[in-house]
Amino acid sequence: MKRPRPVIAIDGPVSAGKSTVARGLAHALGFVYLSTGAMYRAAAIKALETKLDLQSGDLEARLKRMLDRAQIRFDGERIMLDGRDVSREIGAPAIGDLASRLSTLAAVRTHMRDLQRRMGERGGVVMEGRDIGTAVFPDAEFKFFLDAEVEVRARRRYAELAAKQEPITFDEVLQQLRERDVRDRGRALAPLKRADDAVLIDATNLDADQVVNQMKSLIAAGGNAGKGLKRN
Ligand code: DC
Repeated sequence: MKRPRPVIAIDGPVSAGKSTVARGLAHALGFVYLSTGAMYRAAAIKALETKLDLQSGDLEARLKRMLDRAQIRFDGERIMLDGRDVSREIGAPAIGDLASRLSTLAAVRTHMRDLQRRMGERGGVVMEGRDIGTAVFPDAEFKFFLDAEVEVRARRRYAELAAKQEPITFDEVLQQLRERDVRDRGRALAPLKRADDAVLIDATNLDADQVVNQMKSLIAAGGNAGKGLKRN
């Protein structure tokens, strides 16, 4: 069945600027912004809270039970875990790392995919992540893949973490980003990759406003799929 409004998918590697751009685009179009990374990060917090053992057997079944009992949802742009706002906690590098590990597992991916499909089923969303255009909404009306050189992404990430006074050096950030790229791109299930029909935007030399403007122009030129969009 046709959705009343379009789904806009934005995928790309860590710290390519996806969140800022997706939020800006959602505001410009009057859409809801959904960060799927925040959902994986909330699952990581749940795993820590329930002292999930990643080593012992039966991990997939235990993960499924854990997620079936967890409530992960958005309240505006705040990510809620079991009714508690965890928007701040999810920003810690250790949570991002655990989220990346958990996201390689089938029980986690299936749960998140189904949840994300329900959240976006009526459209009017800008959904940002790694596999939105490939696995979650392969039929999204608009797909973008946002990339940038790894050093540029590391510089952005380092500035963000330094502002939060996280004790980490630039070289450590660069190293972590490289490892995360390898894991996100190399995993067997729904790896990070550009969908064949996604528009590639290289943000190495662009700021967020420039990227949002490019996306808005491409959407405006999008014919039928772009109908009904509010344009500022
Ligand atoms: O976008 P982020 O850094 O907040 O995401 C954290 C991790 O979650 C990322 O390393 C991989 C995983 N993730 C995913 O597998 N699929 C998504 N759609 C979004 C995030």
